[in-house]
Formats: sequence, structure tokens, C-alpha cells
Amino acid sequence: MTMGGLTLSVRGDVLVAEIDHPPVNALSALVRAKLVEMLARLGAEERLRGAVITGAGGCFIGGADIAEFDRPPEAPLLPDVLAMIEACPKPVAAALHGAALGGGLELALACDVRVAEPGTRLGLPEVTLGLIPGAGGTQRLPRLCGVSAAMRLIGTGERLGAEAARALGVVDEVAADAVGAAMARLGAKRRVSALAVPPEAPDEILAAEAAALKAGKGRPAVRAALAAVRNAAALPFAEGLAAERAAFLALRASPEAAALRHMFFAERAAQRLPAALRAAPRLVEEVAIIGAGTMGLGIAQATLEAGFGVVLFDTDAGKRAQAGETLRARLAERAAAGRIAPALLSPLRLTLAAGWDGIAPADLVIEAVFEDLAVKREVFGQIDLHAKPGAVLATNTSYLDIEAIAAATARPQDVLGLHFFSPANVMKLLEVVNTPSAAPGLAATGMAFGKRLGKHAVLCGNGFGFLGNRIYNAYRTQCEFMLEDGAWPEEVDAALEAFGFAMGPFTVADLSGLDIAWRMRTSQAATRDARVRHVPVLEALCEQGRLGRKTGAGYYTYANGQHSAGSDEVVRGTILAASAARGIVRRTLEPAEIVRRALAAMVNEAALLLAEGVAARASDIDVVLVHGYGFPRFRGGPVQWARTQDRAALARDIDLIEAATGFGFRRGPLDLLLTETLP
Ligand code: COA
Repeated sequence: MTMGGLTLSVRGDVLVAEIDHPPVNALSALVRAKLVEMLARLGAEERLRGAVITGAGGCFIGGADIAEFDRPPEAPLLPDVLAMIEACPKPVAAALHGAALGGGLELALACDVRVAEPGTRLGLPEVTLGLIPGAGGTQRLPRLCGVSAAMRLIGTGERLGAEAARALGVVDEVAADAVGAAMARLGAKRRVSALAVPPEAPDEILAAEAAALKAGKGRPAVRAALAAVRNAAALPFAEGLAAERAAFLALRASPEAAALRHMFFAERAAQRLPAALRAAPRLVEEVAIIGAGTMGLGIAQATLEAGFGVVLFDTDAGKRAQAGETLRARLAERAAAGRIAPALLSPLRLTLAAGWDGIAPADLVIEAVFEDLAVKREVFGQIDLHAKPGAVLATNTSYLDIEAIAAATARPQDVLGLHFFSPANVMKLLEVVNTPSAAPGLAATGMAFGKRLGKHAVLCGNGFGFLGNRIYNAYRTQCEFMLEDGAWPEEVDAALEAFGFAMGPFTVADLSGLDIAWRMRTSQAATRDARVRHVPVLEALCEQGRLGRKTGAGYYTYANGQHSAGSDEVVRGTILAASAARGIVRRTLEPAEIVRRALAAMVNEAALLLAEGVAARASDIDVVLVHGYGFPRFRGGPVQWARTQDRAALARDIDLIEAATGFGFRRGPLDLLLTETLP
């Protein structure tokens, strides 16, 4: 019998309840209500000796329905359903496969028996959503695996394989036929809540707690999760449960949890192309990469690790040989650490090509040479001569006009931007830049390729700097204005780091080197309108040989690689001179003003990008800033931040940056940005 959300069948004397609620069998109100009905039937029918709960499709249960967290709770609540399972006089087993996460694992923990199929992933990832488990997970899990293991799992949100879960006592058995094995194990009731927490050395608990706090950067959810797990050993079950629920409800209402939920859905929305671009992707198996520099190597590594065949082309024989050795060593290291399948190395699908004809077999060619339009156009002329018909031709440019590059070929319909971030084998962001000339299916091919690399691929239109660099430029420019207005680099950096950025903008600039921006600014100097506010500090530093960390000095100094606490007299003098030249009376900028101005610059640029269609949807911008630019995930990106601000205050901040910028400022349509919903 199908009840919608749950399918019941009777096997012998056991009731089998299969949760059937695509895509991931989330425990929505409907499913919870059906579980209550199922328990009533189990209790009422004498011929039934117990029940097995399982899931239809690819997984057991993907968790609570995350979308419901934004709405008032709807009865029956999950903790109540789980209490009914425990109170039921007949035993209930959980048969797990695919994923048993969050509320799904909590449900399994409330059962008397747990059997998992090989390949099941189990976990309580609530902290990654700014929450803690709210249906007994923090109280039941430690009763099975001990406090320190529970702290590790709940405090970091780590996912366990089936065998590891069995070794910890979280599941009773791993079996290919989990339902059959669970039926065989249905015997007496065995309530996890009635078990005692196994004793452990206090040192072990302290170490587990410290490790989880460190991994979770001490965020409130992590602290609450650890406290809740501690309670399991200190309080009676009912009291621990009540404390857990109270902490869960408080966190659920927090802006941080709302921001993390936003990111969860934003990351998934980013994978969906707008209707007009949806098409079958081209088949990609062999990838050619042009250029064995840092970027080319990183892209080659990511591509090899994803199981593609790679041809790495470079005209420099020394660089080529070195690249081969480096890639082999890096992949061997990753395999030894268990991060990639050892089979990827035997044999490594890497060919080093000395001539252009080497790229002929490639389905996808990725150019990763020097960032210069003339150089790239020349390379694309060669690619056009040697790539096979139908191959996708991609450029890894971070700013340049893709169509100007495509025009160097006779097949602009096959040219696409794939903007990787450095180091390309580590950074999870990939900007997929589509042009109006691109053939149907080209953007889809780029997105599918990004997904196979395990990256967050985000579609962008072909505008200068695409999404990320365009926003970052607006932000960085505003931060430079603040130097002239009265702040020191360390004040700007400290304010933004306190907001949650991994690094402030001047620390980032020093790390990536000031010379790239110097070159660009110098090339623009001749055509720059004299009325445009331009802060000449970076150029002045570069002229003194201060190119950033690599030269031992930039905005900061780096004696023995140590970042100085503040800027030195040279930098301060340069900044003071810039302020004086502009006739600015310097004033103190409070951290709050620094943060609001820097973010308002991002928000305004985001509104422009959305209006111009460079961004397909507002939330894509958040995915880009969080995964490519160190924007704190717990704040959800600049768009989510803007949407939680007072509207009038935000408009005033934009007035402020308009006044600070002066000539040439373009105001973005804030209403559009704030009200757009995910398409
Ligand atoms: N609640 C609501 N929707 C969920 C969900 C949940 N717990 N988990 C997944 N979904 C939705 C996704 O939004 C996506 O929807 P879309 O197709 O409309 O974009 C769809 O289910 C598929 O999810 P996706 O992550 O793309 O599928 P997958 O097969 O790669 O992974 C999971 C499946 C379950 C492993 C993964 O979705 C996951 O980790 N989910 C979150 C688990 C979690 O944090 N649970 C704790 C909740 S308290």
C-alpha cells in the first residue's frame, strides 16, 4: 500500500516501511505523519512482531527537510516520532543504504537495530548548517560510540563509511541485504537511550573537544554540539534531550544558521543552468592543457584526479619534464594519503606533448598561458589549427574578453571561459564563462566538467572580471579609498578579518603579489580619466621594489617570512602623501564603518552584475565569493548579508561609497538584488 511518502508491505510477520520521498527521502512533515501511522498499525496488528524502516531510491534518509527550517515547526515533530519508536513495545529496525544523515541517522539511533549496506555514508552534519542534532543525536550517539568519538562526529559533521560505523558500534551489522539482515535481528527491544555512556579517559575527551573546536573555528554551533555531547555523560537521558532541543531551537533561529541554509541551497541552485542554456553536454574524456606553469599544473592535477586523460603541452622541454615529475609525485602522495584511488596511477593517464599535434585527440582544450590578450590570441590560432572538430576550446583567463580570444579562431561557437582559481587543484570554485556566440550545449559541457572535477561551477556572462574579480575589484578599490581617508592597512584587514574573512584585502594583495595589479594599472594609466579617484599607493610601493610577500615587503614586511603586525613608516608615508595630494584631512575609521563600506561596494557591484545579466541569479554571486574569495560562509555571501540588513541603512552605505568614489560611480539596482528569488 502506498500512502505517499511511505510505502508499507508485510514480509512474513514483519512490517516493512519504505520511505519514498524523492529526491533524498527528507523527513518532511508528511513523512513524519506517515511514520506515526505506521507505528499505530504495528501496535494494532497482532500478527506483526516488528518493523523495518528503509528508504526507496538511492538513499535511506538525507536528513531533516532543510527547507522546513525557515517555517514554523509542524507536528508531529521528529523528537516525538522518535520517542514513539522507542516507546513502541515491538522492536523497530533501520536498514540503511546510500546516505543516513542528520535526522535520518537520528531516526536510526532511536531504533532497536541498525544494519547498513556497504557504501552507506552516515553522519550528523548539522554543524555545517549552523545547528546541532535536535532529535536526540547528541544523546544517543555517545551511548553507542563514547563521548570522544561522538564529539568528533557531531562536532565536525564528518561522514562515516559503513565499516567505520560498525567498528564504532553505531551500526550493528554491515550486510548487502540490509532489510533481510535487519529482519533477522529483530528480537527484544534494545533502547539506545537506556544504555550507559561507555567510560573514557578525560584526556581523550579533552583532545577530541579541542580538535573539533579548532576544525570548526569555535563557531557557536560547534560549541553547542560539544556541550550537548558532554551532557550525555553527565545528565539523565531526558534532561540531556531537553537541553539539546533547547540549544537546537535557539540555533535554528540564528542568522548564522539561516546563512548556512542559504549556502546549501545556493550551491545546488548554481548547478542548474537557466532554461535557455540547458542542453546535453558534449562528451569529454580527453583533456589537453596548454601551458605547464603553476595554473596549468594545478588544472592538470585536478583533471587527472577526476579520472580524465590529460595531454599537457608546453614548448619548454625542461618545464615539460619537470611537470611530469611533479604531477606523478603529487598524485602518488594523494593516493598514499587515501585521497584518490591508487588505480589512477597505474598507469597515470598523462601525456607530455612537445608539439601542437599532441592536442588532436582532446575533447576539451584548456589554455593556461600568460594573461595577455595578444599571447592568448596567438595560442588560440594554433589551437584552432590542431584541435579536432567539435572539441571545446576553453581559456583560463581571469579578466579578458572571451569573444576577443574566440575571434582568433574560425570556430567561436566552440570557445568558452573556464576560470580556475589558484591553486587549481585545491580551490573549489570554477567560473564557466559563456558568450552569446557559444553553441548550444557549450555552457552545459563546462558545468558538467566542473562537477566531475568536484568543483562549484558557476555560470557567468562574458563581462570584464566575470563575477568574482569584478566584485573583488570593487571591494579592493573601496578599501584603498579607506587608506586615503584615514585608515592604515592593518586596520582595514583587522576589521574585515573580525567580520570573518580568512584574510584582509591588503594581506591577500601581499600574498598574491602586487605586480599583477601594478602591470594592469600602469597599462590603464594613459587612458584613465583624470576625474576618476585613483589611489596610487600600490604603484608607489611597487616602484620601491615592494611587490608583496615574495620580495619580503609590500603593505607589510616579512622578516623571516613573518607577517609584520602593522605597516611600516614607508607605507604610512606613502599613504599620508596620497591623502595630502587629494587634500584629505585624515580621520579615524571605526571597524564597523570599514566593514560596511567594503561590503556595500560588493553589494552594489553584485546588483550591477545581476542587472547586466553577467550573473544568472543573485545567489550565484554568494557561491563565488564564499568559494573563491574567502568570504565567510557563515555569513552566506554578500547578497545574503545584504538581504539581512536594514534597507535604509544599506542605501545610506551605498550613498557613502558613492560620495567616496565620486566621478564614474555607477549605482546598482538594489531592489532587484534584494528581491530576486532563485530561478
Ligand atoms: N532537505 C531538503 N532538501 C534536500 C536535503 C535536505 N536534507 N538534502 C538534499 N536536498 C535536495 C537538494 O536541495 C537537491 O535539490 P535540487 O535537486 O532541487 O537542487 C536534491 O535534494 C539533491 O541533493 P544533492 O545534494 O544535489 O544530491 P546528492 O545525491 O549529491 O547528495 C545527499 C545527496 C543527501 C548526500 C546530500 O544532499 C546532502 O548531504 N544533504 C544534506 C544532508 C544534511 O545536511 N542533512 C542534515 C539536515 S539537518
